[in-house]
Amino acid sequence: MRVAMIGTGYVGLVSGACFADFGHTVVCVDKDERKIQSLRNNIMPIYEPGLDDLVARNVKASRLSFTTDLTPAVAEADAVFIAVGTPSRRGDGHADLSYVFAAAREIARASQGFTVVVTKSTVPVGTGDEVEIVIGEAAPDADIAVVSNPEFLREGAAIEDFKRPDRVVVGTDNDRARKVMAELYRPLFLNASPILFTDRRTSELIKYAANAFLATKITFINELADLCENVGANVQEVARGIGLDKRIGAKFLHAGPGYGGSCFPKDTLALMRTAQEAGSPLRLVETVVGVNDARKTAMARKIATSLDGDVRGRTIALLGLTFKPNTDDMREAPAISIVHALLDKGARIRAYDPEGMEEAKKYLPDSIVYTGSPYECAEGADALVIVTEWEAFRALDLVRIKELLNKPVIVDLRNIYRPAEMATLGFSYESVGRPL
Ligand code: UGA
Repeated sequence: MRVAMIGTGYVGLVSGACFADFGHTVVCVDKDERKIQSLRNNIMPIYEPGLDDLVARNVKASRLSFTTDLTPAVAEADAVFIAVGTPSRRGDGHADLSYVFAAAREIARASQGFTVVVTKSTVPVGTGDEVEIVIGEAAPDADIAVVSNPEFLREGAAIEDFKRPDRVVVGTDNDRARKVMAELYRPLFLNASPILFTDRRTSELIKYAANAFLATKITFINELADLCENVGANVQEVARGIGLDKRIGAKFLHAGPGYGGSCFPKDTLALMRTAQEAGSPLRLVETVVGVNDARKTAMARKIATSLDGDVRGRTIALLGLTFKPNTDDMREAPAISIVHALLDKGARIRAYDPEGMEEAKKYLPDSIVYTGSPYECAEGADALVIVTEWEAFRALDLVRIKELLNKPVIVDLRNIYRPAEMATLGFSYESVGRPL
């Protein structure tokens, strides 16, 4: 199959490289000349484990190429994926679809022969219908079927998620399109990954429902963590105790500083708006959004409490800035709210992140001091805060950390250390939802 992938952001690049690895011929298209030039030199615009090798291997085998020229890429393609951004629209929280529609117009004019146009970007219910209208207006004679095929990739594990998915969802009622999609994903059929064919609107909603459900699960355990702190229970054991029930499942029950990233915050908000406008508000999701927002700043209060409530003039060392490990993505990272709240309270901040510091500089105020290692970060600080659970922070030399810190205070927002061990080492140690 010949594939054109429009948009070489996170989703487009990973999906394009993986389809090429399946043996298809893929052209990744982006308007950004510099990005395309970098990709041709095997410089990735994002940090994703394994991606540079995957891209290099498939470029070498002539299955993967990069271009700014959409027209020939689309003309030759059996399937064209729209993988452009759908950011939150300023003001109302709706997904901004202008990039999706612009891409659809260009694709319509460039397509030749039967072409399947697939929306991979996360788009609200009914967007497929609108894309179909846009295409019909731009090129009334084009032979195009519009399909929904949402992605469920996690940053940091995206290649594995693409190649061994829990499921693939395809929304279409067009038989020819269904055959093209089945052929594209054939290697997964061989791996026995379930492919769910459904109608387009249902497929679009499945994506939002999945993210909203996961966000709800996290928020539920986060609120329980607060309760655990107040009644002297252990949230990790509560999570294990409920997670062993197969109906609940063990995953996404790690209490922490609140969910962030480019997906959950944006998608929960967009689903909330869609539901309100459809006259069936999702009150549960509305509450999840509110609770999660409040949680990020509550974490700054927790840090202040570990220093007797006053951080004015104190130096706080933050370990981990990205919204989760194995990415350099800072979008909606809890660290952003935490940093602002601590600075407002008069604290000084030192920070270290294994991959995210360049990105972090775009999101955080200039007053932050960036350091070259966890140890340099800890030097002279009044408290050390673990914000993101990078592997490298799990086996710190805590004796050395204690010597470097001004005060032996650790606030572990990801529960990566054991309270009893920290007490033995002489730390004043706070974590999330666990007794001291
Ligand atoms: C999420 C979904 O997991 C993917 O299936 C989906 O494709 C993607 O959004 C998307 O819509 O594109 P991602 O944002 O990469 O993927 O990250 P997750 O691993 O889901 O983590 C999201 C946030 O939840 C992070 O801030 C993480 O720290 C937090 N989290 C996750 C918790 O606080 N506790 C948990 O138990 C799990």
